[in-house]
Amino acid sequence: MQTTKKKMWNRTKFTELLGIQYPIVQGPFGGGLSSVCLTSTVSNAGGLGSFGGQPFSSNEIIETCKEIRKNTDKPFNINLWVNDRDARLAEFGDEDYKILTTLFKPYFNELGLPVPERPTDLGAKFEEQVEAIFDIKPAVFSFVYGIPSSDILEKCRALGIKTIGTATTVDEAIELEKAGVDGIVATGFEAGGHRVSFLRRAEDSLSGTFSLIPQVADNVKIPVIAAGGIADSRGIKAALALGADAVQMGTAFLATSQSNASHDHKDKLFSADAKYTSLTKIFTGRLSRGIRNRLIEELKNYESSMAPYPLQGKFMAFLKAYPPTANSNPDFKSYWAGQSTPLLRHKDAKVLIETLVNEMNKK
Ligand SMILES: Cc1cc2nc3c(=O)[nH]c(=O)nc-3n(C[C@H](O)[C@H](O)[C@H](O)COP(=O)(O)O)c2cc1C
Repeated sequence: MQTTKKKMWNRTKFTELLGIQYPIVQGPFGGGLSSVCLTSTVSNAGGLGSFGGQPFSSNEIIETCKEIRKNTDKPFNINLWVNDRDARLAEFGDEDYKILTTLFKPYFNELGLPVPERPTDLGAKFEEQVEAIFDIKPAVFSFVYGIPSSDILEKCRALGIKTIGTATTVDEAIELEKAGVDGIVATGFEAGGHRVSFLRRAEDSLSGTFSLIPQVADNVKIPVIAAGGIADSRGIKAALALGADAVQMGTAFLATSQSNASHDHKDKLFSADAKYTSLTKIFTGRLSRGIRNRLIEELKNYESSMAPYPLQGKFMAFLKAYPPTANSNPDFKSYWAGQSTPLLRHKDAKVLIETLVNEMNKK
């Protein structure tokens, strides 16, 4: 009699590619919400820990990687945003800035803060940040909002760095595979944080995870990492059944004690408010998902008046709305969260992974 051997759920093209134990990626967080502790905890637990380099200089990223290496000898991922300046910046003139400040003046007044002059320092640039990747050579370099130049991808290959691009549509996934990346995060619009589209407008690229994953899996050969709305072992099982080789979970890790999110942000994720999230441009100028609050509600009809990225985010920093800090006013703060936030149960990243693994082993 022939015996059929059950395939281990955790042996996938993705775990083989990286030599890691579990096909569970902790999603990177921009806006300063990643932490060395979270990245190393997840990598040590057998998943892939990630660190979002978006707001940092090349030197800061190098120093961060050194700290991660002090805490783990396992593979980890550094993430960057390829397109760091919206083309619309060139057209956004003084008149537009005046409209923006008029719109926000009541909120600055309410907090007793002056309305800022147009910010001129727009922050780190991808071309400089990517030098840190070449210097530190993390096992994985993942990116959003586009595809790095072929020179950059070639250099990564030569240095033994695996590259992972991010797609919000099937066409983006196909372009990424053509460019020669090693894996693709396919992210549905349930996901917390930014909608990282690069071929069409984010508003025109709103596929859900359940629809996107099998379509991407049918169209590319490289490993597919499913992201968006996955918060427990049911989500992992579903993603693998739909053709994914791994999952990337963001909000579930953001909620753990190891992340750099503020205490009130974490409390908010476990509150009843987390049932209602919205896609909004008000915090950064780019479409992103967070828990609805007063600012999102009151400005929902004025999305087109927001400044382009990254100017809008620099402006919102004066209102302490973005990046979110411990002393931001809750009415105005960006409480990033995905649609599955009400499913969250765990406040420790190690326990979260152990629970997911135990549940998957039983299925
Ligand atoms: C606060 C926050 C910041 C994020 N920043 C980034 C980022 O800088 N780069 C990136 O690739 N993904 C970023 N993401 C997306 C996550 O890495 C992950 O793909 C997403 O959260 C998965 O959806 P989920 O939140 O439903 O689990 C962010 C998500 C959140 C919640």
